[in-house]
Amino acid sequence: MKPNVVIVHELYPELLKTLEQHYNVVHFTRLNSDADRADFNAAMAEADAFLGSNVKFDEALIERSPRLKVIASVSVGVDAYPREALKARGIVLTNTPEVLTDATADTGFVLLMMAARRAGEMERKVRSGNWSTSLMSQDFGVDVTGKTLGIVGMGRIGQAVAKRGHFGFDMPVIFQNRSSKPEVEAALDARQVDLDTLFETADFIVVTAALSDETRGMIGRAQLERTREKTILINISRGPVVREQELIECLQEGVLYYAGLDVYEREPLDPSSPLMGLDNVVLLPHIGSSTVETRGAMCDLAADNLNRVLAGTSPLTPA
Ligand code: 8YV
Repeated sequence: MKPNVVIVHELYPELLKTLEQHYNVVHFTRLNSDADRADFNAAMAEADAFLGSNVKFDEALIERSPRLKVIASVSVGVDAYPREALKARGIVLTNTPEVLTDATADTGFVLLMMAARRAGEMERKVRSGNWSTSLMSQDFGVDVTGKTLGIVGMGRIGQAVAKRGHFGFDMPVIFQNRSSKPEVEAALDARQVDLDTLFETADFIVVTAALSDETRGMIGRAQLERTREKTILINISRGPVVREQELIECLQEGVLYYAGLDVYEREPLDPSSPLMGLDNVVLLPHIGSSTVETRGAMCDLAADNLNRVLAGTSPLTPA
């Protein structure tokens, strides 16, 4: 009997074909409707394994999946899964670190550069037919090279952002991290500081800390009020690390100069969000790791993890 595998992700055709050769696969590219959700729940009742992302697993779903042995998440972040409940049931959770580090760090720099040079606003000026004279200072942005880069959460992605800043843009790097990282300080000539000092000192602040009970809501008005006149805040981790309502108010009041966001408290972002009406924020639709190559590598790694657990060996990247 082939194991039953439920997939909720787009997969490139060869990978899907290979998985279908070995398993009874129920495949959804996304859960788009109530009908999809009902079909998904029915499939999970029989599933030995799950591969995918962007599905919130609560304890009830785990209970309704009595055969489940492995969740192979196509993501580095695993905040969507109830760790304790998985542990209690002996369900293995795996993720896809490393293969997405560069693409996600690049997204951080896309936002940083767009915000610094107000590229979203300037693009809207061209497209709306409002580019009528050469630009004057009211449309100028700020320099990037040589400015102080502050990283919140110095894991793999934080380090990759810092590397870009340090080696590519001559940026002094400061960072906040829960544990001390002397090796990173040495490699990037960086300085570890507390969160308040980081907000008081950095010109660009890039949030890369994973979402956990500890980091939920860790950045709000209290930190944003410490920023300098032209500080730019970038979030590429998870929306709830930043208190979104307080961020909006600080952008509206000019307490914070500018922001660049790839992630939000609720995704997709509600079209009625006040963020939509603000010019001093760049908004991207969670493009973090979304390149053809990186998503392919993430799906390959997730499939390898799933194969290994179902074959009774250890996964390559347990979460
Ligand atoms: C996933 C993510 O890459 O890796 C993560 O933690 O944030 C996501 O961008 C995406 O959900 C894969 O479909």
